Amino acid sequence: MFRKICLFFCLNYAVFIYFCEGLFFDFQFTMRKVSSFSKLTKYEKISWLAKNFLYESPVDVINNFAGFWYENVEIQKQFDGFSENTISNFHLPFGVAPNFLINGKDYVIPMVTEESSVVAAVSNAAKFWMERGGIEAEVIDTLKIGQVHFFYNGDAKKLKQYFTENSEALIQSTEDLTANMDKRGGGLRKLELLDMTHLEPYYFQFKASFETCDSMGANFINSVLEKLGSEFRKMTANSGQFQKPEEAIEINMCILSNYTPDCIVEAKVRCKIEDLGIVNGFAPQHFADKFTKAVRIAEIDVHRATTHNKGILNGIDSLVIATGNDFRAVESCIHTYASRDGQYRSLSKAWIENDYFNLSLKFPIALGTVGGLTTLHPLAKTSLQILGNPSAADLMKIAAAVGLMQNFAAVKSLTTTGIQLGHMKMHLTNIIAELKANMDEAKQIETYFSDKVISVSEVRNYLSRLRDSISPKTI
Ligand code: MEV
Repeated sequence: MFRKICLFFCLNYAVFIYFCEGLFFDFQFTMRKVSSFSKLTKYEKISWLAKNFLYESPVDVINNFAGFWYENVEIQKQFDGFSENTISNFHLPFGVAPNFLINGKDYVIPMVTEESSVVAAVSNAAKFWMERGGIEAEVIDTLKIGQVHFFYNGDAKKLKQYFTENSEALIQSTEDLTANMDKRGGGLRKLELLDMTHLEPYYFQFKASFETCDSMGANFINSVLEKLGSEFRKMTANSGQFQKPEEAIEINMCILSNYTPDCIVEAKVRCKIEDLGIVNGFAPQHFADKFTKAVRIAEIDVHRATTHNKGILNGIDSLVIATGNDFRAVESCIHTYASRDGQYRSLSKAWIENDYFNLSLKFPIALGTVGGLTTLHPLAKTSLQILGNPSAADLMKIAAAVGLMQNFAAVKSLTTTGIQLGHMKMHLTNIIAELKANMDEAKQIETYFSDKVISVSEVRNYLSRLRDSISPKTI
């Protein structure tokens, strides 16, 4: 009730400011350029948007956005705080995929995705492999990388010598920042000076490797890098060895790298070919041959590789989003890894060896299970609870297992029934909803289209025939 009263007053206020805009606002805009936008209230922001970009009544626009606000004012405040200029929330479906058996432990996977078929397909694949011993997953390494990029126009040998003699002191200068992480078993593991002058004149780099335990560690890494950069500049300047103007270190930037080839995980499934059973009407050997050839195509053909890996990421991204991790970082890292030899290739491999069918997936991924959104977002917290509050390393294994199952599901469909059968079933559900068919009609539509090509117009025609046939006119 309180919320409705507030909304009523705010709507009236919004109408008022909509008409008075220009007279009372202390922000100015030319054309549609706006200043101090961030200082406006949510209602003022929406009214401005309504007037300048949507050309609709601010009341309608506010109602539209407000329809997606949380009832709980505190939760809404928290969501508003995750980003800037927030005017509403954008919802995506949160699903769960059961029947995952990873290293002998069963899991239900929380997945946030808007794409139909993804959760159904991965669940089927997980069940298929649960019945064949499950998925094996292993973390190969967990190191993350950060860089200090700098320019130095002096003698490279002298710089290298100075770094060798003083790198310990340089590392020690970051102790105030690394002490806590050290206690948790992490910290700065390695610091290297790289001479990059063969690529760009005067360009050098510190490449630092970090262990950040269960946190993604972005803030930690960036703070340490900035300290390394500024300390190194100071140390060299005060050393008396770099006196010439061209010997001054010019720090260009200090930032973590989202490419983490030493933070890597692998997941595998394997079974006797005959234990695959009949797969969508295909005999086991025939299925295994078709499957391995399809994965080989994704290794050698860049167009296929891109779609193949997109399928893998359907699963990984869904889990990454559900657990409040940074999916852009995950995506950019994985794509760099997929092109590490100069050509973009499949992340998975499939092969037949001694009558066994094998499928494996290996990729780098940096994830956190503490800190950031993983702790702040109420549903990310729940996702981690569903997974049994895993460590970051365990979450890496779960991500690899989900990617592997998504890949198995996609390639299995592609090489047997074709992908459209499954997609169209989900599509049919959406069409039924769109055409507002009732439950009886929906059942009849599903039966009728179980062996037919599905399109909106075909379903619409069938539904109108159905309705005509039972309308009083024809009785
Ligand atoms: C669709 O989102 C994903 C697939 O295209 C993946 C693939 O082709 O392997 C089905």
